[in-house]
Amino acid sequence: MDEIKKRIDYLRTLINKANYDYYVLDNPTLTDQEFDKYLRELEVLEKNHPEYDSSDSPTKRVGGEVIDKFKKVKHQLPMLSLPDVFDISEIEEFNKRIVKENVEPIYVCEYKIDGLSVSLHYEKGKLIYAATRGDGIVGEDITHNVKTIKSIPLSLPEDIDIEVRGEIFMPKKVLEVLNEQRAKDNLPLFQNVRNAAAGSIRQLDSKIAAERKLDSFIYHLPNPQDYGIKTHQEALDYMKKLGFKVNEKANKLVKGINEIEAYINDITNERDSLPYEIDGVVIKVNSLESQQLLGFTSKYPKWAIAYKFPAKEVLTKLQDIIFTVGRTGRITPNAVLDPVIVMGSTVKRATLHNEDYVLMKDLKIGDIVSIRKAGDVIPEVVEAKKERRTGEEKDFVMIDNCPICNTLLIKKEGQVDYYCPNILCPARKVEGLIHYCSRKAMNIDGLGDEIIEDFYNMGFIKVIPDIYSLKDYRQDLIELEGYGNKSVDNLLAAIEESKSNSLERVLFGLGISGIGDKTALTLAKKFKSLDNMLEASYEDFLNIDDIGPTLAKNLYEFFHNEEKLELIDALKAIGINMNFLGEEGKYDYRISGKKFVLTGTLEFMGRDELSRILEDYGATASSSVSKKTDVVIVGENPGSKYDKARELGIEIWNEERIKGIIDSL
Ligand code: IVH
Repeated sequence: MDEIKKRIDYLRTLINKANYDYYVLDNPTLTDQEFDKYLRELEVLEKNHPEYDSSDSPTKRVGGEVIDKFKKVKHQLPMLSLPDVFDISEIEEFNKRIVKENVEPIYVCEYKIDGLSVSLHYEKGKLIYAATRGDGIVGEDITHNVKTIKSIPLSLPEDIDIEVRGEIFMPKKVLEVLNEQRAKDNLPLFQNVRNAAAGSIRQLDSKIAAERKLDSFIYHLPNPQDYGIKTHQEALDYMKKLGFKVNEKANKLVKGINEIEAYINDITNERDSLPYEIDGVVIKVNSLESQQLLGFTSKYPKWAIAYKFPAKEVLTKLQDIIFTVGRTGRITPNAVLDPVIVMGSTVKRATLHNEDYVLMKDLKIGDIVSIRKAGDVIPEVVEAKKERRTGEEKDFVMIDNCPICNTLLIKKEGQVDYYCPNILCPARKVEGLIHYCSRKAMNIDGLGDEIIEDFYNMGFIKVIPDIYSLKDYRQDLIELEGYGNKSVDNLLAAIEESKSNSLERVLFGLGISGIGDKTALTLAKKFKSLDNMLEASYEDFLNIDDIGPTLAKNLYEFFHNEEKLELIDALKAIGINMNFLGEEGKYDYRISGKKFVLTGTLEFMGRDELSRILEDYGATASSSVSKKTDVVIVGENPGSKYDKARELGIEIWNEERIKGIIDSL
């Protein structure tokens, strides 16, 4: 064999082993300098000898592959999730069921890793593709990102075909460092390791995933019979032998309910000291024959359950209760807390909903309170620790006047909430802006609550249309603390992009009283365009499922209110899409909501076919060029439309450009 090829093979083996020692065994065998030196040598050799290129070379792990969308992958066997249980008595029931089926109660207990599951496919020992769970039936191809995860082998020591499944996760420390950096860059922080891992694996550019330092544990072999394997424990050993990272320290063979309980007690103590987040324990019947006998429901295997830890509670001091004013004028009391970390993120505030809620919990300012994260995300004040009161605590008193504009608050008969009735109250305006930009409305990345408040106070944004003029302040924004060219450009791009959102988003964003995101979608589907809604009668609204007399009245009044109509006109003039973009919600920011005109002969597809595709994506394709046209697509021998477009300064795309976009959809 050629000397070069020999050296390449030698380096690949050496680097793969070093990766394995470091990332799987947690036992480094090369210094960082040695590792870098060998990797660089291999990179140079591969660059100079492309004939020896190989998709499983360790040089492929640095990232760089960029995809333009995620391909769908149908799982060969469904990727099921597990039934959750929350206390020992439910585990006892599970155990009883197992015993009743004459199955020996021998289980493997494992940590439930807080990440996202992945399916890895190898053919002839080489990693061919990796997919997310998706809906369990169809997932997404994330191979380009998975290749950057060093604990996942690109090739196996045997030339076998095999699928294994496991969890991709972000170590706690990695999230901490990542969030510190994001705070400096003024980017939204990741709430927890799971969101961070999911956000990283859903990147089109694998360089980003590579930087995120994800890790893996493998815990499931879908086709054990193909390898003559009889128990789950053997499957874990086999996958370990193949070079996968299996959580050996945690996985334990146990017998009966008492040993399961002992396992849970042990790890409850160790949980905080682990370098990764776990949210429970998975209990699996060990014998694969018994697993087969027990079978599956449509959603879950009957041979395993997930015991979930109770939401974590921590104690802190309730410093104060302050009041905020929502966009409808609703007043909410909020707990101001001594900052405290709950499940990996800092909590400083928690909503206390309304006066009755605070009274019911009997909270006093100065109390020591316990906090937990409901659904792992939203912080909640659980209770006051009354035994810790010193007598210095102050009673909670509901306010009478708006904390912002001082107007006397009102409370309607039979309702729990107080409202500020002043429609000009500045707080309501800020909240209205926040609502408009929020995720379920226009979803403008980078315009979060605090930034909007700042921009409002600085005078950049007073009313919704001002959002779209932010670009005129580009230089001022760049000079603001915490901003730079890149973050301002990203923000401005996100604002531009939001112009082509489907109708339901604008509709929800407008903040019509009582219209949530779901109702907005129902309305958008029904009416198709805002213009149709402007023409609708009260009865037209009332005829829609889910809409009763109050909502119908709110809608009708909104669309006949002079101020609101002015706002709608202003948004239209800015070029905000006011049409529903199709049942399937097909969307592409380069196409959706735009007005196209096609001229000349296109080689790659007929004009009618192209028009249909554009319309599927919520664009319009019309025949004549006007000032309102966004883009003219020009083929061979274009007619006068081309000249007119040039005259009006309208964007012109050639065949190559539109073909590139269509191919990428
Ligand atoms: S076994 C059919 N084992 O928890 C077997 N799952 O609620 C399916 N998970 O979707 C999974 N750690 O993402 C299994 N040691 C572990 C796990 C684990 C975390 C996740 C996985 C799964 C979810 C089930």
